[in-house]
Formats: sequence, structure tokens, C-alpha cells
Amino acid sequence: MHKLSTMKIEQLYTKCLAEATYFIASNGEAAIIDPLREIAPYIAMAKKNAVTIKYIFLTHFHADFVSGHVDLAKETGATIVYGPTATADFEFHEGKDNEDFKLGDIRLRLLHTPGHTLESSSFLLFDELDNEHCLFTGDALFIGDVGRPDLAVSSSITKEDLAEKLYISLHEKIMKLPDHIIIYPNHGKGSACGKNMSNETFDTLANQKKVNYALNPDLSKEEFVNQILDGLTEPPQYFPKNALMNKRVNTPIKELLSNGMTAINANRFQEYSAIEDVLFLDVRSPKEFAEKHIYNSIFIGLDGTFAPWVGALIERINQPIILITPKGREEETVTRLSRIGYDNVLGYINGGVLAWEKEGLKVNELLSLEANDIELLDEDCSFLDVRRIGEYTDSCILNADHLPLNHINISAKDRDKNKEQFVYCAGGYRSVIAISILNKLGFKNLVNINGGFTEITKSNIPLKIYKNNRSASACSK
Ligand SMILES: [Fe+2]
Repeated sequence: MHKLSTMKIEQLYTKCLAEATYFIASNGEAAIIDPLREIAPYIAMAKKNAVTIKYIFLTHFHADFVSGHVDLAKETGATIVYGPTATADFEFHEGKDNEDFKLGDIRLRLLHTPGHTLESSSFLLFDELDNEHCLFTGDALFIGDVGRPDLAVSSSITKEDLAEKLYISLHEKIMKLPDHIIIYPNHGKGSACGKNMSNETFDTLANQKKVNYALNPDLSKEEFVNQILDGLTEPPQYFPKNALMNKRVNTPIKELLSNGMTAINANRFQEYSAIEDVLFLDVRSPKEFAEKHIYNSIFIGLDGTFAPWVGALIERINQPIILITPKGREEETVTRLSRIGYDNVLGYINGGVLAWEKEGLKVNELLSLEANDIELLDEDCSFLDVRRIGEYTDSCILNADHLPLNHINISAKDRDKNKEQFVYCAGGYRSVIAISILNKLGFKNLVNINGGFTEITKSNIPLKIYKNNRSASACSK
């Protein structure tokens, strides 16, 4: 008689971080692979499925988010498992290559697949009939790409060494597995852990062998190393900080939530602004921020790639932060900040900008212009493009200046703070972030173009736009 399957595999995909966590359950037992910082959803899932969380598998020490493995282990009694060579400040089981972990009626086999990092491991799931079913690859193999090999370099290992190890892991371990298995990676398109990921969040190994450049069987080790190192951009500044936090015991998420959920009344402004380097972070929509915001606050909206931009732009990870949030989204904001280790949230302004203004405290508006109104501007007016280099070189307004948002803290220093400039990105999210940061640095005459380049190109105004395959310098003044 065929045994009825009790196995459950759920991919929990978080778009903001382009990150996938996995919930696996079989016959009363569960495992979580690569949990995010907040652990309540996993505990709720275990309860709903009437299972006990037995293992927390970490494919590697993540650099792009802080995991909640220590909190989750404390709360559930589950065992944390890392791959060979891992070292950390907390208790965990150092798995061996080919070690099996039984979970209900199934088992997971650890395959040591170094390359992205040294301890990187994948987990091969055998179903109730003991057939290979799927592989959780972490950052060893993505859909359409592989993990970058430059994040775990040290005095004794180079990115070239790691790239070679990744080639061996792929060719001698992963590519030798049965073609039908499903590949479940830790990241999808948009993550800075790779450079060429597809939109899909899982695929069969057979198909990846056909379409993923890194699995081309004809690629020599040398060619592979050259290809994956080619075009790698500088990792965001928070990556090494998050990687370090993942090896430590951090403030429990419960404590972070209780601190961050402190309602701060505007009349206590003096007291809070006396705290050295306190940052007012406004996470509402670009439109709301433009209409009215607290003087010197910066904007990074929740409804965008919030966490990666916070990580890229707020350089001090332990900077004291006071939030201005949409009503009811305070907890979400503190949680999303904690996912990338911004743990020093003092609270949020009770009643938001209106309460602030009522108290007689300083507010500002952001100057803005509709894309259609560009034709009313003088011929010699100046534009500032804050998109990525690739977007800018693809097409931009003729003679637009270029200051990519991810370089803003460094590159803004040498600029004229009084020059009038009309600022745009693709859709009006990054330009508002950029202007808020520049204004805080003392810039005075920046105007946002609502809707950004998308609206500009739709507006049919006789505006000169350079298109396609030009070098960055040809687009720049
Ligand atoms: Fe990673």
C-alpha cells in the first residue's frame, strides 16, 4: 500500500530582502531553514501544523540579514545546525559533510558546498519513500546565478580561492544529484548576494543545468572563476556588520519590539534631540513625506526596498533612530529594521508629523514638480539623476548630472549645496530618499520630479533623452 505523504515544504518569501526561508514538516516534527530575525511567525506555523520545531538549519552565516536562530532555539529548544568549519558565540551543532538529520518520516542530508562562504552547506531532502526530493542550496546556487564569492574573504583566503571552491561544490556535489530534484535557494532577484538572478524562486536542477550560466558543464574552472568575479559591485556597507551579528548573541527580538514600540510625545523633543546623533527616519510614502515632514528627518519608505536601502545608507548600524510611521505600522517598521540589525530604535513620534507641528516644532515640505511641467523650465536648468549606473547609461535626460543613491553619502560632499537641481530616479522613491539625505547635509535648492523617469518619458515633452549603449561619461556633464 502506498504510504500517504505527510511531508510539507513551504517557501516563505520576503520581497523586501528577496529572501526565502523554508518551513519543513513531517509527522509531528519541523525544521526551519534560514529564519529571519522575527520568530513569532515560525512558532505560529508550528502550532498551526501541530509540530515541534526540531532543527534550525543555517545554510551559512548570512551577510544581508540578521537571522533569529538564537532566539528561535531558546524559545523552542530546537538545535541550530551549521556546516563544517563554522564558529560562533552560541551553542550549535557543527554538521559534517553527508550527515543525516531525521525529521518525522523524512531526512535531510547536509552537503558541504563551500564557495560563497567556507561553511556554506546545502540540505538534500529525502521524502518518506527515501527518494531525493529537493535541495536547499542557500547561496551556493540561485535560480539563474550563484552566490558571490567575495563576502567571506580573509587574510588566508581570497575571492579567487572561494570561487574555485564553489566550482568544485557545484560540479562535484550539486550537479551530480538527480536531475528531477527541485532547487530551493535562499535568495531571488534583487538580492545583492548575486548579480544575475531570475524572477523564479525555485526550479528543477535539470532546467537550471540548461539555463544557468554557472552550471554550464563545458565551463572550465578558470572560465567559471572569471565569469563569477566579473562585474561584481561593492557589497553594501552593512553586509560585514550583519555577518558578524549572525555569529553573536544579539538583543532578543522581544526586547527590540518593546523598545521600538515606545510612543514618544512631541513635547519631549528637546530631551530626545539631545541624544547624540539621533536620526529621525520617516517611513511613510514619498507623497506624504513631500507634503510635510519633520525638519532634518530622512525618508526611506516602507513600501519600497526598505531594508536594503536602510542598510546601504544609514552608515552607523547602532545609530539611535526615532520613527515617523504610518499609523498602525510601527511594529512592522521596528521588525523590518531588526532584520538588518538596526536595533537601536528609541520609539516613534506619537501622532506623527501633525502632532509635531501642533507642538510648534519645525516641519518642511519637499519642493516638487510634475513631469509634464518640465517644459516650463528654462533651457539651461540642471537635472540630477540618482539611479544606478546601468539605468543612467541606458538612457537619461541630456546633460543630467549623475549621483547614484548608493554613493550619496560619499559623493555629496564635493557638490555645490546651493545649486538648483531637478532630481529624478525611475519612479519617485529613490529621488525622495536622495533629496531628504542631501537636505539634511545642507543642500537647499533640490526639486523632486514626481513619478521620475517613467513619467518623464511618458510625458511627450520635447526633451532630449540619450538612449542606449553610451558610456557614463557621455551622459554626464
Ligand atoms: Fe549569503
